[in-house]
Amino acid sequence: MASKALLALFLPLALVFLSCLAEAQLKLGFYEETCPHVEDIVREEMTEILKVAPSLAGPLLRMHFHDCFVRGCDGSVLLDSTKGNVAEKDAPPNKSLRGFGSIERVKAKVEKACPNTVSCADILALIARDAVWLSKGPSWPVWLGRRDGRESHAAETKQLPPPKASLPQLIAMFAVKGLDLKDLVVLSGGHTLGTSHCNSFSDRLYNFTGKDNLYDVDPALDKQYITKLRNRCSLTDNTTLVEMDPGSYKTFDTSYYNYVKKRRGLFHSDAALLANDFTKAYVERHASGLYAAEFFQDYSDSIIKMGNVEVLTGYDQGEIRKKCYIVN
Ligand SMILES: *[C@@H]1O[C@H](CO)[C@@H](O)[C@H](O)[C@H]1NC(C)=O
Ligand SMILES: *[C@@H]1O[C@H](CO)[C@@H](O)[C@H](O)[C@H]1NC(C)=O
Ligand SMILES: *[C@@H]1O[C@H](CO)[C@@H](O)[C@H](O)[C@H]1NC(C)=O
Repeated sequence: MASKALLALFLPLALVFLSCLAEAQLKLGFYEETCPHVEDIVREEMTEILKVAPSLAGPLLRMHFHDCFVRGCDGSVLLDSTKGNVAEKDAPPNKSLRGFGSIERVKAKVEKACPNTVSCADILALIARDAVWLSKGPSWPVWLGRRDGRESHAAETKQLPPPKASLPQLIAMFAVKGLDLKDLVVLSGGHTLGTSHCNSFSDRLYNFTGKDNLYDVDPALDKQYITKLRNRCSLTDNTTLVEMDPGSYKTFDTSYYNYVKKRRGLFHSDAALLANDFTKAYVERHASGLYAAEFFQDYSDSIIKMGNVEVLTGYDQGEIRKKCYIVN
């Protein structure tokens, strides 16, 4: 008797709980009814954008990464600063960010077809997928239904792994986001696309330990490569761009791992991948170029996982921004 009464009491509660859980998750085909062509619209715009400016693929992929690492994938990276608040995009790491105009352009097209329906965070996840695919990389299904956050704070970009991070720092910063060692070495493979400003790595070329002589360089960086990079970058140069995967920085492939293996990764965080048996083995396997399909699958798995980090879902969280740079 008592157990039946208890069941009657708890079953509805359990159902409510389960349905909340289900609601708090992203879905494939989330916009099937409300904006059935959203993925086509994004891909069409991205095709146009990259046809004119193929070098934007790297920055647009990077933008999704920056978004997810700070406050979860909620579009906070896209918000402008306001009076009294400095937004993420105006924090020091923003120098690596480009392509905000392209995101607004895609968003405007989607708004025209389906007003007030598709979040900027979802559009950014689709843009990142298409940036990779249009650069001859893999494609992957994008789970949708993210809501846009209403806050963005420059100070929170501390959660982003900096280019100077050591391996233990990288591991810890990924772990906070639920990402493991494999995700770290796999997502680093995204450095196959794009460029970097000199000042993200120039400390490795000059005055590495403060001795201030010609030989004071990062021993983890290949000597000949140092000479080459020095010809491009002075210690204080913050404008020159250097390819992260020279020769194929507009193509998504495994050659980045070959550079890292040859101790020619640009950042400390690239070199750090050789400091751990697991990540080193991964770098060496993919440096061979023989397992591109495997890397593509790994990359798809890891970026789907990253796209789930701390998302806002359901009608009671966040909003659907009309424009990505400003809250409604
Ligand atoms: C961040 O970007 C803005 C323009 O979007 C620029 O005015 C500002 O100087 C940048 N800040 C840094 C530290 O690079
Ligand atoms: C080299 O590093 C030392 C110690 O950090 C610093 O005092 C010195 O000014 C640096 N030299 C240059 C040329 O930046
Ligand atoms: C680049 O460096 C110059 C000189 O060191 C500095 O005045 C300028 O603000 C820097 N620009 C950025 C975007 O950080």
